[in-house]
Amino acid sequence: TGYITLDDGYGNTGACESAITYIDGEKGILRYRGYPIEELAENSRFTDVAYLLLHGELPNIDQLTQFSTQLNESSIIHEDMHHFFNGFPRGSHPMGILATMVASLSTFYPVPDQLDTATEIQIVANLISQVRTIAAFSYKKSIGEPLVYPSYKLKYVRNFLTMMFASPVRDYQLDDDIVRAIDMFLILHADHEQNCSTSSVRTAGSSLANVYAVASSGIAALWGPRHGGANQEVISMLEQIHAEGGDGTEFINQAKDKNSSSRLMGFGHRVYKNFDPRALVLKKHCDKLLNKPGMNDPLFDIARRLEEIALNDDYFISRKLYPNVDFYSGLILRAAGIPTNMFTVLFAMGRMPGWLAHWREMIHGETVTIYRPRQIYVGEPLRHYKNTIPR
Ligand code: CMC
Repeated sequence: TGYITLDDGYGNTGACESAITYIDGEKGILRYRGYPIEELAENSRFTDVAYLLLHGELPNIDQLTQFSTQLNESSIIHEDMHHFFNGFPRGSHPMGILATMVASLSTFYPVPDQLDTATEIQIVANLISQVRTIAAFSYKKSIGEPLVYPSYKLKYVRNFLTMMFASPVRDYQLDDDIVRAIDMFLILHADHEQNCSTSSVRTAGSSLANVYAVASSGIAALWGPRHGGANQEVISMLEQIHAEGGDGTEFINQAKDKNSSSRLMGFGHRVYKNFDPRALVLKKHCDKLLNKPGMNDPLFDIARRLEEIALNDDYFISRKLYPNVDFYSGLILRAAGIPTNMFTVLFAMGRMPGWLAHWREMIHGETVTIYRPRQIYVGEPLRHYKNTIPR
């Protein structure tokens, strides 16, 4: 029957062929469909990038208009789904709500066994658009404010921020720099080849399961602190340093201490060993945002100090531990007023086009091989049944 090779966590196994995203961790390269992430981040908008990931080419103006219109027309969740929000206990984590609500879309929008292109594109539009509506609604529910419905007049990010923050009891003005920074955050998170959540989507999708349930499996995988939850951890670290009254020096010393399990959150990366290209792009926008008048958050001063110390400290330099994307994205989301427990939800919004591009690539592959890894069995050898319970 041949040999089974152990590859814990599949770190050295190519699980599929893919034409979507290229990464070179040593050189700090990330490209979507061949385009460098830096060029996409500076020149395009999230909906262009979503289209690119899904269709393989950047849209022309007609294609973008059609795609944006379809996203707007698909943005309202079925009115009956609103009852579900009332059923979640107070204080529910928005990622739990998101995973549940996205899975429940499968019951409201049945998927035929045979998918034609138009149906497939409609499903994709539903998911990309409705994940945003559900995200904003779950936040509104959590603070007990009335829901704000999506508007066909607004573009993707403006629509989201308005659903999140518009309120009958507060004045809310959209800030162009914040809109741009959130757009960029979504672009930079839109795909990252076979990471944990995308592999979950491909694994669940390979059984040809319902695509809404498949997308929900991606959300479940993303939820963990070792994956999508890291930017939230950056803010928790800064809050802890602030609460303890320090400036970060002590925390850095602890992170360097090999007898301590503490690490400087937002530094280092499993794949990018010299620099994280997404972090370089975000740093520029993060600096711009944090220097705006009125941004007087003590956590930002601590973050600047940590960044400065770590970038000049031999421990971090010799191990090539640079600030990663989560360091800057955590700061950007906080500056945008996004509550910390919503950070991973925004990551899920950004990653949805990537998950769906992988799902489409897989179901249109020459063969859809069901994901079915093997294992190395390390349990008991053969033994025979003996009665342990008198009967
Ligand atoms: N703070 C202090 N020391 C560190 C850190 C850190 N953040 N990261 C790595 N090290 C040390 C580690 O102790 C080891 O030291 P030594 O060689 O003396 O034993 C050395 O650097 C190499 O570390 P490693 O654990 O072999 O590196 P890795 O590639 O396995 O870990 C990592 C990568 C991201 C898990 C790790 O750097 C880390 O825990 N960082 C903090 C958490 C974080 O920011 N995670 C988000 C990463 S980006 C997520 C994404 O792209 O989705």
